[in-house]
Amino acid sequence: MISKNTIDLIFETVKIEDIVSDYVSLRKRGSNLIGLCPFHGEKTPSFVVSPAKDIYKCFGCGEAGNAVNFVMNHDQLSYPEALRQIAQKYNIEIEETVSSAEENEERAKQDVMHQISQLAMEHFQNNLLNTDLGKSIGASYFKSRGFSQHIIDKFGLGFSLNSGEFSKLATQSGYNKEQLDNSGLTKNGRDFFRNRVMFTIHNLSGKPIAFAGRILDKNAKAPKYINSPETEIYNKSKTLYGISLARRAIHKNDSCILVEGYTDVISMHIAGFENVVASSGTSLTEGQIKVIKRFTNNITLLYDGDKAGIKAAIRGMDMILEQDMNVKIVLLPDNADPDSFVQQHGVDKMAEQLNEKAKDIVLFKTDLLLEESKNDPIKKAEVTREILSSIAKVPDTIKRSFYIKSCSEKMDINEETLVYEINKIIGKNYKEKQKKENRASYQSNNEVKEAVSQSSPPPKANTQSTPNSSIQAIQEKDIASLLILFGNEPTLEDENTTISEYVLSDLEDIIEEMEHPIYGEVIKDYYQNALNDNTINSKYFSTHPNDSIRKFAIDILSENYEFSPNWSKRFGIELTTQKMPELNYNKVMEKSLLHFKLAKIIEMMIKIDGELQTCEPSQWEEKIVIKMKLNTMKLEIAKKLGTVIR
Ligand code: CTP
Ligand code: MN
Repeated sequence: MISKNTIDLIFETVKIEDIVSDYVSLRKRGSNLIGLCPFHGEKTPSFVVSPAKDIYKCFGCGEAGNAVNFVMNHDQLSYPEALRQIAQKYNIEIEETVSSAEENEERAKQDVMHQISQLAMEHFQNNLLNTDLGKSIGASYFKSRGFSQHIIDKFGLGFSLNSGEFSKLATQSGYNKEQLDNSGLTKNGRDFFRNRVMFTIHNLSGKPIAFAGRILDKNAKAPKYINSPETEIYNKSKTLYGISLARRAIHKNDSCILVEGYTDVISMHIAGFENVVASSGTSLTEGQIKVIKRFTNNITLLYDGDKAGIKAAIRGMDMILEQDMNVKIVLLPDNADPDSFVQQHGVDKMAEQLNEKAKDIVLFKTDLLLEESKNDPIKKAEVTREILSSIAKVPDTIKRSFYIKSCSEKMDINEETLVYEINKIIGKNYKEKQKKENRASYQSNNEVKEAVSQSSPPPKANTQSTPNSSIQAIQEKDIASLLILFGNEPTLEDENTTISEYVLSDLEDIIEEMEHPIYGEVIKDYYQNALNDNTINSKYFSTHPNDSIRKFAIDILSENYEFSPNWSKRFGIELTTQKMPELNYNKVMEKSLLHFKLAKIIEMMIKIDGELQTCEPSQWEEKIVIKMKLNTMKLEIAKKLGTVIR
């Protein structure tokens, strides 16, 4: 591991403009530098680098971060890989922390697994090229599927022999039975893969970590594919077949095509659709989706049009929606899979399917279920609930209201009723999540104040409002932003007192009540440092090891550019210059008043919500009208406050 000292040294040494200008040509604009964003295609520059704050942000696509994040995103490297690359550029010597014996052993074990996988891949490839069986069966099979030698090399395709060749070779190479069994390549010392064409499964950085073998004998009783078991280096639920070859294309196209089969990935790749992956050996998991989300928010499911394909798509969709990703589905006609379709109909027809036939998954599910429940009112009520529960998974309110509108039309139920029902589901989901998080944070933090986190009720959900934008969260966000941006600036009244001292002394008694996982943490972190007499600044947060905190800090730091002149009003602070904020107490007062009103309105909305659950349906309409009025008032106040309330 890279030592904390080295990491600090790297962050102290690195100049963001230095790093970025290796890749992007920048020119000066005010105190910032500006250029064409390397992360999305653009003709007019909206990519801004702030040397003062050591961050970059693209106002076109939203990419933002510090120097290390830039290298990670641009070169698709992991955090330590990026640190090493930067250290090399500045000739910083990397000091490794002395790792524990346990860690060393763990790493050594993994190294062995990697070596064995590499050996196996080469062995399978060699069988394919240089043995009679491999040539006559394996190679001719791949050829019949249209895979060239170039593709065979690129994907690490091969052939496993029937005679236990691999265990012989591996033993000769010095690996023992236990190591080989652990690697999944042998089972009780015997070759796990026999007489199959082999597909290598790679990790994100392109190292072989596992295999799949396809049987060629159509009459065999054995399963068509067998896959490596999980090992120390192969975590099925986080692995996607094809990801190392697809990641750049996914990032560049800002979309990922998800298919079901190994051969689908390869054929699509050959056809020029390189942003393609498959979930390997499992049905789609949350971990796999998170891997995709590192590169894009847009997923297209490209599946067979048969029942199994539809089922797989529906099974995966809620999970993807929950990650705030946009999901489309293409079902290929005539039970074709992507491989057979693209081979039969060609690239243009496939592009047509992807571009013109792709259907939003929520609307797809709505149509599908409504069709199934036609003329059956009880079934219809059931499927309505099912659809609403999918919509409730969508975190983005604008997207959600779009779905509500479309589904209201499709289902012939008025929008207010749908909103009401969805909010009930959201509230319920939120409570469950909160419970889980409380439990998790309790487990991960021994000294957590159990009483506080467990007894404080979760903020209530209200109409068109995601639960986590509770009033408390908004206030915590204001305070956290104030601290990050102006914490070390003197207050107007007393130039010997900093804004952070002023704010934190005010909050001292309730510091532990801060509940938001990002904003609350920032405040607590600031407070803790202040207690220890550590002066921290915005850079502390823009290089924070916690991803969410770092993102938040960078976001508010970059919003404060000349791009957003209204910004300075947001916290009731007028900026005379960029550096010298002045607290405008009138504005602060006005703002607290608005906050107070807002809290009251939200309280009334929650009360109406409660009444809605118990009153007669005949009273719904009246109450919903009141609620919508309250909501309008809420939005107006929110607008005045300049805080977005969803
Ligand atoms: N699969 C598996 N184990 C099986 C069958 C299937 O792990 N016994 C997985 C494989 O990842 C496979 C995918 O499910 O790629 C899709 O299965 P299928 O459509 O049957 O295979 P294809 O990949 O289309 O293979 P081929 O075109 O060679 O028939
Ligand atoms: Mn197939």
